[in-house]
Amino acid sequence: MRVASREAQESVQTRSDAVLAAFGISPEGTVSGAAFGGAFVPAPSGPELKTFNPATGEVLASVRTAGLDDLAAAAAATHEAFLRWRIVPAPRRGEIVRRLGDAFRERKEDLARLISLENGKILGEARGEVQEVIDICDFALGLSRQLYGNQMHSERPGHRLTEQWHPLGVVGIISAFNFPVAVPGWGWALALVCGDAVLWKPSSLTPLISLAAQQIFHEVTAGTEAEGVFGLAVGSGGTVGEALLADTRVPLIQATGSCDLGERVSAALAKRAGRSILELGGNNAVVILDDADLDLALRAVLFGAVGTAGQRCTSTRRLILQEGIAEAFLARLVKAYQTVRIGDPLDDSTLMGPLISEAAVKDFGEGVAAITEQGGDLLCGGEAMAGRQGYFVQPTIFASRSEMPIVAEEIFAPILHAMTVSDLEEAIAVNNAVPQGLSSGLFTTDLRSAETWLSAAGSDCGIANVNAGTSGAEIGGAFGGEKATGGGRQAGSDSWKAYMRRQTNTVNFSRDLPLAQGVVFEVDES
Ligand code: UN1
Repeated sequence: MRVASREAQESVQTRSDAVLAAFGISPEGTVSGAAFGGAFVPAPSGPELKTFNPATGEVLASVRTAGLDDLAAAAAATHEAFLRWRIVPAPRRGEIVRRLGDAFRERKEDLARLISLENGKILGEARGEVQEVIDICDFALGLSRQLYGNQMHSERPGHRLTEQWHPLGVVGIISAFNFPVAVPGWGWALALVCGDAVLWKPSSLTPLISLAAQQIFHEVTAGTEAEGVFGLAVGSGGTVGEALLADTRVPLIQATGSCDLGERVSAALAKRAGRSILELGGNNAVVILDDADLDLALRAVLFGAVGTAGQRCTSTRRLILQEGIAEAFLARLVKAYQTVRIGDPLDDSTLMGPLISEAAVKDFGEGVAAITEQGGDLLCGGEAMAGRQGYFVQPTIFASRSEMPIVAEEIFAPILHAMTVSDLEEAIAVNNAVPQGLSSGLFTTDLRSAETWLSAAGSDCGIANVNAGTSGAEIGGAFGGEKATGGGRQAGSDSWKAYMRRQTNTVNFSRDLPLAQGVVFEVDES
């Protein structure tokens, strides 16, 4: 593993001011973390929050967070905005989303740099993340003319039976640090064409990115019917988050994060029969069979396990190898890991940036210790880079056994468990043996194996691929996972239905009143 030089580290610091300045953020000042009605709240009442550059550990800026009064005001204002927005024709709503997509196109590079700076993902991946927002806006624009309902044939003569979709209300978006604009974007782009308003509680680890996005929302929607449909409340989960979950003006919560977060969201929403779209932990496996194209597989595993420093929900955390290729493949993989350039995420030649925080480095260390204690055999990596600034760790591979309890846990870091199996059947059993069920990929050139993997008795995940890795899904398909991952679906396909309310309509155009199921219920009026 090569480590970037001290000069490169310093250039991260000198560039950071320029990245922040593109969104009018001054490192010395305190910026507002609350917005509604098309403007930032000048002095929100919550405590001050510092945001850090994970590549150096230095403070980037201070954010004044939303207090409970700001959240309540934002919920009231976005609900008011919803009442106006819901009657705007959907194709016109699509036009506003198109303009939002155009603004993200124009600001793509500035936003990508800000994501790299505050989140630590490499610039190429940060650009990809902004591209996901642009893509979902395009998708949502098309969708704005395709929010189709069904027409059924009524069993009653002279009756018409249909279903239509109506706007739902204010959608609460609780987003994670690891995809600070793309995943919220999947939510707001669909919510907006569906006629909903949005109240966003972003991760406290990446508040500046959400402020930059919110600025764009204000610029694009000013003076349009959409003014005020975006509310923002930066704040802690324990205060602002809990209040958002309890607010009956918010009928739907889209939440991305840990399985613990999912439990809290589900419990709070169950109390008020609110709806949720949950995307929680992943523990994703790549299976490589003896007949696989190993060159493809190697690249997919590298991107899946090392990309985003292992901090995607879709990151590859388990590698299930058929015994014929296991040893040789692992040797190649370990060698490839040594060439991964770790360092300044804003430097185009870097492949792996830092973890998000000091706490994440601690979790990595504890994970490594637990795996070792449970009998995992370290093949490479395993250490935090203590001698340098920032939250850097080594990408790590362990030879593990699927029975080790730690293998069932999601450690949000670049740690890969390699395990050996004798055949596809065993590989499927190992893939499915964890509580989470987000993403999975099988590498094979055999049609029977591929189709078995995709069959009802194959992978139990929300995403199952053949000759493609676990991460890097396109927005066109529905995104989400089963079991402890929460069951929600976001982004493409018909995920939009979760952001609307369905209404079934029976219209009687006859002069009679026949009852369904042939029920006779006559009164004698004589
Ligand atoms: C996430 O990590 O929460 O499929 C989302 C992917 C990205 C999205 C990941 N398109 O890896």
